[in-house]
Amino acid sequence: MSVAYHGLCRHLFLLGLSLLMLLLPGEAYESISDETLRSLPRPGNDFDINDGALLSPILIPRVPGTPGSTAVLNHFVDFFQTTLPEWKIEFQNSTSTTPMSNGKNVPFVNFIASRDPPGASPGDVEYVTFVAHYDSKLEPEGFIGAIDSAAPCAIIMHMMRSIDIALGNKWDAMQKTKTSSLDRKWGIQVIFLDGEEAFESWTADDSLYGARSLAEQWETQMHPAMSDFRTPLSAISLFVLLDLLGSQGPSILSYYQTTHWAYKHLASLEQRLCSLDMFKSSPGAPWFPDAAKDEHELKTFGGIQDDHLPFLARGVEILHLIDFTPTRRTGFQPVWHTIDDDGEHLDINTVEDWSMLMTAFAAEWMDLEGYFDTIDGPARRDEALANAEATRLAKKDEL
Ligand SMILES: *[C@@H]1O[C@H](CO)[C@@H](O)[C@H](O)[C@H]1NC(C)=O
Ligand SMILES: [Zn+2]
Repeated sequence: MSVAYHGLCRHLFLLGLSLLMLLLPGEAYESISDETLRSLPRPGNDFDINDGALLSPILIPRVPGTPGSTAVLNHFVDFFQTTLPEWKIEFQNSTSTTPMSNGKNVPFVNFIASRDPPGASPGDVEYVTFVAHYDSKLEPEGFIGAIDSAAPCAIIMHMMRSIDIALGNKWDAMQKTKTSSLDRKWGIQVIFLDGEEAFESWTADDSLYGARSLAEQWETQMHPAMSDFRTPLSAISLFVLLDLLGSQGPSILSYYQTTHWAYKHLASLEQRLCSLDMFKSSPGAPWFPDAAKDEHELKTFGGIQDDHLPFLARGVEILHLIDFTPTRRTGFQPVWHTIDDDGEHLDINTVEDWSMLMTAFAAEWMDLEGYFDTIDGPARRDEALANAEATRLAKKDEL
């Protein structure tokens, strides 16, 4: 990429500046530095569609209750057990008949992985939760669902692997100095949902099998008395749903006023990564066309039906990252729900760019500035901690 490329960057530079000056509701959200952005791990070969360690095992038909589904589930388990051993793995299972199952029950298995700060009781941890569905559509036969949602699953895997060491560094440093920043127990969570797709045609009953079951269970499953959060559902501070990502030139609208501030952070990071020449995909229109809007200017056409709905209905804060443009024929990319939604039709550079962007977002959300090893040297843990503590105390004095 060249200097001329900067002129084509997806966002106005001024937009980035104004975003930095925004005051955010509730919390001290600090931007991460250019130095940290530059040193975020890259996926290397892991998104290769033929032999990439993260993506290629998901690029198979994986209809609920079939061997393909089990194979992909095992891939997730394997990845977390091997690469992210500090993470807790759980399943949430349900069964349901479908319009195509002739009265037989089909099993649906949601995969959940999470990492908590050390010493925190489970009911006291609040999560930023990254979600994608891993099932594929029954029809057309042989359907792969690369953007829908194999690539989003692989992007999330890369994110978690990329921030895991910095997260550990931060928690180690906090424990060593017994800092009061431990008051707020931020954990991170991944959900790979089963049964998003309709078996016959999309209705309230024939779709979102896994999401409906999980939201229902998590609403009623009580944490121990005196916990900070009553249920696993109320412990989710932001539910970030990735769907239909991996085509070139995505367009992500902002659907919810209450999470528009988080959308803006993502847009700002996209602009910064682009300016730093860290994106590989061809520049085009902005990925986040609503970034310059005020939350009250968002079009409220109700959003798109997807896995977030059962959670939204129960009051969970949602950030829906789905490639959708009202002016396209279906609104979605041309490969959507066709046999062409396969590995060959992915734009791997865009998949990689998404993985870097989402990693940066998670790093900011988890407040990891200073805890990554950078090109200029190892993580400056103690300095980062001292800075964070100074900022926190300064903020406290202001109040
Ligand atoms: C849920 O299903 C998975 C995969 O079949 C299985 O390994 C697991 O033991 C089940 N979990 C529960 C709680 O039944
Ligand atoms: Zn789909």
